[in-house]
Formats: sequence, C-alpha cells, structure tokens
Amino acid sequence: MNSKQQTVRLSDGHFIPILGFGTYAPQEVPKRKATEATKIAIEAGFRHIDSAAIYQNEEEVGLAIRSKIADGTVKREDIFYTTKLWVTFHRPELVQVCLEQSLKKLQLEYVDLYLIHFPTSLMVECHPYLNQGKLLDFCKSKDIVLVAYSALGSHREKKWVDQTSPILLNDPVLGSMAKKYKRTPALIALRYQLQRGVVVLAKSFTEQRIKENMQVFEFQLTPEDMNVLDGLNKNIRYIAASDVKGHPDFPFGDEY
Ligand SMILES: NC(=O)c1ccc[n+]([C@@H]2O[C@H](COP(=O)([O-])OP(=O)(O)OC[C@H]3O[C@@H](n4cnc5c(N)ncnc54)[C@H](OP(=O)(O)O)[C@@H]3O)[C@@H](O)[C@H]2O)c1
Repeated sequence: MNSKQQTVRLSDGHFIPILGFGTYAPQEVPKRKATEATKIAIEAGFRHIDSAAIYQNEEEVGLAIRSKIADGTVKREDIFYTTKLWVTFHRPELVQVCLEQSLKKLQLEYVDLYLIHFPTSLMVECHPYLNQGKLLDFCKSKDIVLVAYSALGSHREKKWVDQTSPILLNDPVLGSMAKKYKRTPALIALRYQLQRGVVVLAKSFTEQRIKENMQVFEFQLTPEDMNVLDGLNKNIRYIAASDVKGHPDFPFGDEY
C-alpha cells in the first residue's frame, strides 16, 4: 500500500485515509484559495478532503477535485470526500435536500461521508493540549474511528478561538522533539495522532506547508516520545463554542 494513502477501516467496511485535508478558512480568505489549495493537496498525495456546507467553499473544492480527476491525477474513487449538514437543517425532511445542494455545488455524484456538523459525530477537536484519551479509549472499545480537527491548534485568526490560549505549535516540547526528528512541531502533532490510530485533518492553504504535512508518513515517534506527548494534555479547547453553552445539546460540558 502506498504510504500516502494509509487508511483506517470504518465499522461499515469502508476505508478512510488516515490523513485528511481540512478546507475551512476564515471568511476574509478569498474562496478561490480553496480551489488552489485543494489541487495542491491532491497533487501532494492527500486523498481525504474535509469540507462542510457552512464553509461555503463546496463549489471551489468540487472544482479542484473534478479538475484533478479530469487531468488524470486521481479517479473519483481514490478520493474520500466528507461534507456536513449544518445545525439549522437537522429536521429529517431537510437532510436529503441539503445533501443534494452540496452535490450540486460540488458537481459530484456522491460524497463518501455525510456528518451532522454539530454536535459532532466521529469528529472531535484533538491535539496534544486536548488529547481526548478517555474518549479515544471508549471509541476504540466500540470500534468507532475518531477524526481529529484543529490538530495543529486551529487558526489563531478565528474570532471564536480564545486569543489568550497558548499557541500549540510554539510548545517547547513539540519544538525540541521537532529538532530531534529533524521535522517541525506541526509534523510531530500530526504524527502523534496517526500513531494513536486517530484520523487527522490538517488545514493549510500554503503550498510549502501542504507538502510538509504529507511528510507525516516518513518518520515514527518512539513509544517514550508518545508518552511525553500524552503528558502535554491540558484540556485546552480552542473551539469552545461558548456562545451556545446554554443549549441542552451542548456537548463540551460532558465528561467525554
Ligand atoms: N466541527 C467540525 O466539524 C470541525 C471544526 C473545526 C475544523 N474542522 C475541519 O478540520 C480542519 C482542520 O482544523 P482547523 O481548520 O481548525 O485548523 P488546523 O488544521 O488545526 O490548523 C490550521 C492552521 O495551521 C496552519 N498550518 C498548517 N500546516 C502547518 C504547518 N505545517 N506548520 C505550521 N502551520 C501550519 C495553517 O496555516 P496556513 O493555512 O496559512 O498554512 C492554519 O493557520 C478544518 O479545516 C475543517 O475541515 C471541522
């Protein structure tokens, strides 16, 4: 198997590539950037692409996927594409309508995974400062695959990220480990998830960093270093959604 396409088996028998390309970008970023970045990501070897109706970029991401199919880089079945149903469309009669709207924007025949966006199923914020160890153990015991978002500490420019929270990629332990493995703090954070069996998303719209993130398959952390990374957990949640804290379905107050 090509290392660039390492997959994890889902309980329904389908396979999901363990490294995914995140496509959310803050509103001020021109939408065409999503097309450019997604094309670069597919060329670099990403085969799992994560988007959502609320990201308002499905035309642009779909265009990138179709152009990489048209030029022979990939076939549709090589790509694992995820999209998500936004929170105001949970009523059963709206689900199919929303999915069809996404497909129309993408100009694709199907998506590989359709998730309820929030509260999230399968996907959780997960990185060395919020390593979700207990939830991961539970998921493994039930044959549920966990997908990590904000694995690099998310976007600092996001208005809902607490600006006083520590910057994950500036962590001195990640920094010294990066030196030791001759990689970068971002690669250490991504590799950490792979070795725990967690599917990990990495968003970058910068060519050099998109390519860098693919290097996650080129090295391995020792069990001792995995333990050191486990020790960084501080229960820091970058996307705390505190504006919906009072909602009965608010998930982040639960033990898991
Ligand atoms: N509820 C949900 O379902 C949910 C919530 C949040 C996110 N997500 C998904 O998960 C994806 C990833 O999460 P995220 O967008 O919060 O952010 P993230 O992947 O944790 O971090 C993205 C940030 O890291 C930077 N970056 C990327 N690679 C880097 C590298 N090698 N070195 C240094 N910096 C690097 C990016 O900068 P540049 O772009 O400038 O390179 C960007 O500022 C999203 O795009 C989205 O698809 C889902």
